[in-house]
Amino acid sequence: MYNGNMDTFEKFYFINTYGCQMNIHESEKIAGVLEKLGYFPCDAENKADVLVYNTCCIRETAEAKIHGHIGEAKILKQNNPDLIVVVCGCMSQQSGVATSLKRRFPFVDVVLGTSNLDLLEQAVVDAKQKKKTVNTDEKNYVLVNLPKVRTSRPNAWVNIIYGCNNFCTYCIVPYVRGREHSRPIQDIVSEVKDLIAKGYKEITLLGQNVNSYGHDLDDGTNFAQLLNEVAKIDGDFRVRFLTNHPKDLTDDVIQAIANNKKICNSIHLPVQSGSSDILKAMNRKYDRDYYLQLVEKIKKAIPDVGISTDIMVGFPGETEQDFLDTLDLVKKARFSSAFCFIYSRRKGTVADKMDNQISRAEKGVRIKRLLEAQNVITKEISQEMEGTLQRVLIEGKNKKYVNTYCGRTENGRLVNVKSDVDLFDQFVWVKIKKFQSATLWGELQKED
Ligand code: 5AD
Ligand code: SF4
Repeated sequence: MYNGNMDTFEKFYFINTYGCQMNIHESEKIAGVLEKLGYFPCDAENKADVLVYNTCCIRETAEAKIHGHIGEAKILKQNNPDLIVVVCGCMSQQSGVATSLKRRFPFVDVVLGTSNLDLLEQAVVDAKQKKKTVNTDEKNYVLVNLPKVRTSRPNAWVNIIYGCNNFCTYCIVPYVRGREHSRPIQDIVSEVKDLIAKGYKEITLLGQNVNSYGHDLDDGTNFAQLLNEVAKIDGDFRVRFLTNHPKDLTDDVIQAIANNKKICNSIHLPVQSGSSDILKAMNRKYDRDYYLQLVEKIKKAIPDVGISTDIMVGFPGETEQDFLDTLDLVKKARFSSAFCFIYSRRKGTVADKMDNQISRAEKGVRIKRLLEAQNVITKEISQEMEGTLQRVLIEGKNKKYVNTYCGRTENGRLVNVKSDVDLFDQFVWVKIKKFQSATLWGELQKED
């Protein structure tokens, strides 16, 4: 795009990212490839020369939104025939979707799957010559060696394991992300060392199931060992990790969190349902008693731990009693936060073929009841934090209030704090004064 300067014709890119942290990090790799090709980031789709959709397909709502959004690119392409439109990520990896995308959106130039990002560079070069690329071949390719443009300072994402072997019956992820594939421990440790040297203060280790880390390596490494190794690195930083599977969360991981100050006392532990029958139908491989005992064990071992979760309502066959079991588990586990979802049928999964699907109306009623139950607990936990002193890493400015910064406590709670001086990217001590539901308000304390 012509930038108004007679001497330079700078080229710009814009990336639309949908879905989870894995996708956010993959967009940093896409940006890395595009910047290597000489493109600069821009702040609006209509200024872009390369427009990327990094997609998600975990629920139907996500897909519908993305389809609508890609449709809008048709006009941009009409206005600028040289615009290169790229669709990649989980949605395009689903079987048959690349073909249907091509048919529905013929103006798309490049379609790549989750394991084909290494082809992006060549695909963009070819698209400039009006040559289209569609490649979603599965190859379990590890995308670590792509350049990255990190955008989430003070946090840096670090992949530790790709893919998933679990095949929960509702979930599309194993079909679009392939089988588990761990990165060697030395590669991860050296990436973290490099990030700490560059001043990143929070490292989030990423995997669909981080607890499976090392199972596919033959050197005996496991997730607890990785946590201990990362915590040994010098520097003032903290470590988070996403996401856990309750069946694989071992005692030595709990101990690693309890023993290492640098590892946050925060665990995301998706439960999905509080009914043992539904958990069985979901192929989760644990029951409600196991889960509740695990929560108790974690709370005993790790002081002030924040346990967050994912819960789904309306899985096929979920009775009122099954749902009441979920409400009861929520009250017993007392999650610091819960991401609540309505079950969404995904083509190709086992649950999609079950004939006892729940009506949309019933799902709607249940999600409301679940959110109300969790809101009560979130408020109670916020109230318990009033008056406590918390170490907060400031992530940015609050967009609504002036001179207000926001950050997270070690156990994962969002805190707003007023300050006349810039606090971005700093650890600060904050006394919690009040709360608004899930958000805490604190007062900046003098350095210790
Ligand atoms: N419908 C609704 N929610 C789903 N999740 C995964 N698959 C589905 C689906 N088909 C939720 C799970 C998971 C989170 C990332 O998304 O709760 O933990
Ligand atoms: Fe999906 Fe289950 Fe794998 Fe998580 S563990 S990505 S919910 S199949």
